[in-house]
Amino acid sequence: MSYINQAGDYKDYIGVFDSGVGGISTLKELVHILPNEKFLYYGDSANAPYGEKTTEQVLALVMNIVHYLVEQRVKAIVIACNTATSVAVAKVRAAYPKLPVIGVEPAIKPAAAAKEHARVLVMATPITLHLEKYQQLSKTLEEKAEFIPVNCAGLAHRIERGDLEAEDLQQMLEKLLRPFVGKIDSVVLGCTHYPFVKQQIQKILGEVPMFDGSVGTAQELKRQLQKHGLCAESGVGEVVFQSSKNTPEELALYRWFYEQDNK
Ligand code: DGL
Repeated sequence: MSYINQAGDYKDYIGVFDSGVGGISTLKELVHILPNEKFLYYGDSANAPYGEKTTEQVLALVMNIVHYLVEQRVKAIVIACNTATSVAVAKVRAAYPKLPVIGVEPAIKPAAAAKEHARVLVMATPITLHLEKYQQLSKTLEEKAEFIPVNCAGLAHRIERGDLEAEDLQQMLEKLLRPFVGKIDSVVLGCTHYPFVKQQIQKILGEVPMFDGSVGTAQELKRQLQKHGLCAESGVGEVVFQSSKNTPEELALYRWFYEQDNK
């Protein structure tokens, strides 16, 4: 494993990015499913959170990062952020039609498939819940399940700081989730930051099944790499971390998140 923080030639790498540390939960699944691949992870922690910005602001930030990753010559891009995917995936694909671009979306499909007429709590950022992508997807599934959206403004920003056992974080989750205790069948973690507080969520809601988009994203990346003949069939996998908040402390925090058990 390498922990380098510099621009360079990442020709055989897959670029993965998020507003900050959240996409590391997705990255871990990508590494698990594609152990021979090399990944360049970029966290925009200097500009996090995205979920409470305007869509124009998020689009500009995303386009900058994609442009930067393309300059590093990555072979594919994973937008490991539900918010950025909702705002920008179509525009990124239009701007780089030859590049495989994979997004992540709230895993409401697997949640609806897991139990008939389930009451599914969907935790996500204000932008994700508000935009058409989620609205349309939930509409197509509304006969199968009841989706209860919870606007978790502030939560990703708090998770960015680490210290996940702290009292203030537990209180924030209590406030958001206490009203739903005993009233739901499952939870969708519709922001890539939230898998890092799975256990804290379970402390409040009990052992309800939880779904996130990382497995679907990893499978889709694998399919796209195969389709484009871009798979690394052998060789040693690698992860490189970069952050717009380019300090040793921040990169140490990224490593810490990478080592957390969020299953
Ligand atoms: N991790 C991101 C997501 O999946 C965004 C969190 C944020 O920056 O607000 O939505």
